[in-house]
Amino acid sequence: MSKAGMNPPGKPRLKLGVLISGRGSNLQALLDAAAYPAFPAQIALVLSNRADAYGLERAAKAGVATAVIDHKPFKGDRPAFEAAVDARLRESGVEMVCLAGFMRLLSPWFVNQWHNRMINIHPSLLPSFKGLDTHQRVLDAGGRLHGCTVHYVRAEMDAGPIIVQAAVPVLDGDDADTLAHRVLAQEHRIYPLAVRLIAEGRARIDGERVRIDGDPQDAQAALVSPAG
Ligand code: GRF
Repeated sequence: MSKAGMNPPGKPRLKLGVLISGRGSNLQALLDAAAYPAFPAQIALVLSNRADAYGLERAAKAGVATAVIDHKPFKGDRPAFEAAVDARLRESGVEMVCLAGFMRLLSPWFVNQWHNRMINIHPSLLPSFKGLDTHQRVLDAGGRLHGCTVHYVRAEMDAGPIIVQAAVPVLDGDDADTLAHRVLAQEHRIYPLAVRLIAEGRARIDGERVRIDGDPQDAQAALVSPAG
């Protein structure tokens, strides 16, 4: 880990709650980063709305606390579901929420509870291609560049101040799977980077833009365009 990634001795690590619904490969990237004692954040809780989410196994393997709050018994009562999720996060002392493939839309009430303390990773270069099926939609549109974004969450879906983005090329012969694979490798790189910048107090929200304070190399690393 670089010097910039060191947590000063004695400084408490930022407590994260990671919300998932499935595979959890981005969760794994955060677990791997947090496994370094010098990483300035730790995962206090992994919460899934599905009991069969593979990410729960990843968390358990890493010795991280898990919780399942299934949305189905709430029978469409979203406020009650979200109040239960909110309460569980607070019980665990969570200071910042990371959405990592959490497949429930969150109400303005929930977003407001975690204003500027909740981030998401989205598989496109926002503000382009909000929503689902981003890889196929980029291919259909004939895009030459694609990528991923870590951003603060606002009530509007896939909107909010952008913290880190990475771009990848769209190659001739790509299909949605090959493109998703190339983007996912970058997701796993930029999610821990965004968490680190926030935990170090260096991702400053200025209006609805994020400024990266400190080492300019980190700000540079926040806009990545790998060759392949
Ligand atoms: C990722 O593509 C992420 O960008 C999107 O949902 C997917 C989650 O994948 N929000 P995983 O569960 O982290 O593997």
